[in-house]
Amino acid sequence: MSEEPLLRRIAEKVLGSDYAKLIWRRIEIVGDIAIIRKPFNLSEDIFKVIGEELLKSLSYVKSVWLAITPVYGIERTRSYVHLAGEKRSETVYKEHGCIFKLDVTKVYISPVLGYDHMRIAKQIRKSEKILNMFSGFGPYSIIASKYGKPSYVLSIDINEHAVKYARENAELNKVAFLNEIIHGDALLIVPSLQRKFDRILMPFPDLFEKAIEAAMMIVKEESIVHPHLFIEARNKREALIKSAETVKKFIEKYGASAEIIGGHVIRGVAPHKYHTTVDVVIKKIGK
Ligand SMILES: C[S@@+](CC[C@H](N)C(=O)[O-])C[C@H]1O[C@@H](n2cnc3c(N)ncnc32)[C@H](O)[C@@H]1O
Repeated sequence: MSEEPLLRRIAEKVLGSDYAKLIWRRIEIVGDIAIIRKPFNLSEDIFKVIGEELLKSLSYVKSVWLAITPVYGIERTRSYVHLAGEKRSETVYKEHGCIFKLDVTKVYISPVLGYDHMRIAKQIRKSEKILNMFSGFGPYSIIASKYGKPSYVLSIDINEHAVKYARENAELNKVAFLNEIIHGDALLIVPSLQRKFDRILMPFPDLFEKAIEAAMMIVKEESIVHPHLFIEARNKREALIKSAETVKKFIEKYGASAEIIGGHVIRGVAPHKYHTTVDVVIKKIGK
């Protein structure tokens, strides 16, 4: 959820319009925590007063944090400083009727993925066996378990905090009985799995090629895979077309063939660069 104009209005009130123009417009709300992103050219100090004012304006916000870096590293977390309210970074976040406990400073969280979490859940056929290679605190796996009626969901993440929360969240949403959650490197674990999966989620564009390579070991004919990737394009429509072509060609390198049945633009990440995902049916597997 985001509150676009509010942050600018507050910044104008407490700092004046020259400063306010330099501040990102977007506030991210995760549960009862508000997150402001710090532009690289402004000092942390000026945000304390904005944090206090934000707390007064949004009664449901109990704690305000300043993200002082973009997401970085393999765990895709950011560095934060506390601005106002309770000094607490753990919260309960709600999405599509599910509840997720998480610490915003320890796991990757982006409400922008919310649409895709449900988009995937709606595609799941009864009794499917699903693998989620980069599960984070569990939203794809848990929303799929709740709405898609799979028979088994295996989730993997390299971040121990994400795995701890995913396990707790599976319990909180009463789907622990069909979820197995493993801490480790999916690129090493996946090729050694002894079973084939009906559906494989790869929600991490940075590892697009390596994730497909690993997943090709455990697909069968008619398995559906959902790779995420970054793609350069002039607009969203072109981004989807180019993503489909890229993924199809990449899968064919492994002697397999694929049919693209859908896709979604998750977000624009830079001018003419998009984070996308495509839905792919494996038609023939390589030997
Ligand atoms: C973009 S986040 C996943 C988002 C999550 N699926 C969601 O919907 O919120 C990418 C995740 O991949 C994990 N990760 C990165 N490299 C990994 C690897 N080699 N094996 C398993 N998990 C990995 C990170 O710890 C992070 O939680």
